[in-house]
Amino acid sequence: MTEWQKTNWRNKPRVQMPDYTDAVALAKVEAQLSQYPPLVFAGEARRLKQHLGAAGRGEAFLLQGGDCAESFEQFSADAIRDTFKVMLQMAMVLTYGAKVPVVKVGRMAGQFAKPRSAPTEVVDGIELPSYRGDIINELAFTPEARIPNPGKMLQAYTQAAATLNLLRAFSTGGFADMSMVHSWTLGFTDEQDVQKYSEIADRIQDTIDFMGAAGITADTTHEFSTVEFYTSHESLLLEYEEALTRLDSTSGNWLAGSGHMIWIGDRTRQPDGAHVEFCRGVLNPIGLKCGPTTTPEDLKVLMSKLNPENEEGRLTLIARFGAGKAGEHLPRLVKAVKEEGAKVTWVCDPMHGNTIKSATGYKTRPFDSVLREVRDFFGVHQAEGTIPGGVHFEMTGLDVTECTGGVRAVTEEDLSDRYHTACDPRLNASQSLELAFLVAEELTNLRRDRNKRAAS
Ligand code: PEP
Ligand code: CO
Repeated sequence: MTEWQKTNWRNKPRVQMPDYTDAVALAKVEAQLSQYPPLVFAGEARRLKQHLGAAGRGEAFLLQGGDCAESFEQFSADAIRDTFKVMLQMAMVLTYGAKVPVVKVGRMAGQFAKPRSAPTEVVDGIELPSYRGDIINELAFTPEARIPNPGKMLQAYTQAAATLNLLRAFSTGGFADMSMVHSWTLGFTDEQDVQKYSEIADRIQDTIDFMGAAGITADTTHEFSTVEFYTSHESLLLEYEEALTRLDSTSGNWLAGSGHMIWIGDRTRQPDGAHVEFCRGVLNPIGLKCGPTTTPEDLKVLMSKLNPENEEGRLTLIARFGAGKAGEHLPRLVKAVKEEGAKVTWVCDPMHGNTIKSATGYKTRPFDSVLREVRDFFGVHQAEGTIPGGVHFEMTGLDVTECTGGVRAVTEEDLSDRYHTACDPRLNASQSLELAFLVAEELTNLRRDRNKRAAS
């Protein structure tokens, strides 16, 4: 293969990217972004890769979550704090079940560009180009709003930088101090969740008190008072990605400076396409969505292109088939991975195969389908003797009504109350935490099974 360059994707077939009409404006934005500092450092991306490698071996578990699409309009410190907070709570519950470290990765600080199933949208007989995320055009249904505007990349960069800054502050500034576990209980969390969560929090507090007595405290032990929190997004808008790509002087490798982890979507994973070409050359951990149309042949080619050195943690395969469909599709892909002896981290995205239209006209996802797909995913890995390495959710810390179901049941009629997503429906805080408890149960069973087998 010829030496990789960050511009080579331009010679490959591209899909799902905007046709910017103003080439001068686009070039100006690209030049500007190329001068800006990268958002992340290569050492961080490498460290995340190590953690993901551990998740692939069953020695850690990935929790990846956040908005389907970050929005300019809904950008606020409170929203970032609440999502961060609910992810910490979920991580704690999962750690409790899995008894391994949980790797926390937000769909945050860069998750702005969206692939769409149709290039245009028709409302009341009027056809306009589809909305493609705030980094590209606007949600409003007017011809002007839907014109791709390269200037939006600068606003996305600024918002991503501010988001990441706040996340870094929360991660190390005391907010994530484990001795504050009780104070993380969100006001609107379901009573049953509060109780379950409090039990876990009590046990953690006990452990902290015990260790404190032994002289191990937040003051002496960094791990108690800080968390590592990483960012990720779909690497879709390649002009933006290219402009933020930097040479890492310590290794001589290229870094996608837009976020720690980037992934390739289900609609842009053509082995000879522009997105795979871009991602194969950067050192970051790469995610690859695998859907019902992913063939074992394609997967093998993709694995050799994206991870030719078979490096652990480099490639995360994010399965998204739909409830009841993992059994039909996942085994052939697991087999392909085994045949290649490929090192991958298997993760379950139970969101994107479970989107339906409610009778009330909203795009939604039933909580039960989400849960069922997670259980299917665990079941297949159990049967194949492979490792479920994590979960990937569209979720928010806000009390939205976008997915139906959950203990504090959201009905189809409720959807209109607080339906705020710019794109796909997200789990709200209560549904997210409930799901974490259920995934933790799966992890506990898995661990018990393993221990039993080891003992016999
Ligand atoms: C997404 O993650 O928001 C998305 C569009 O997923 P997929 O590519 O799996 O459809
Ligand atoms: Co989505």
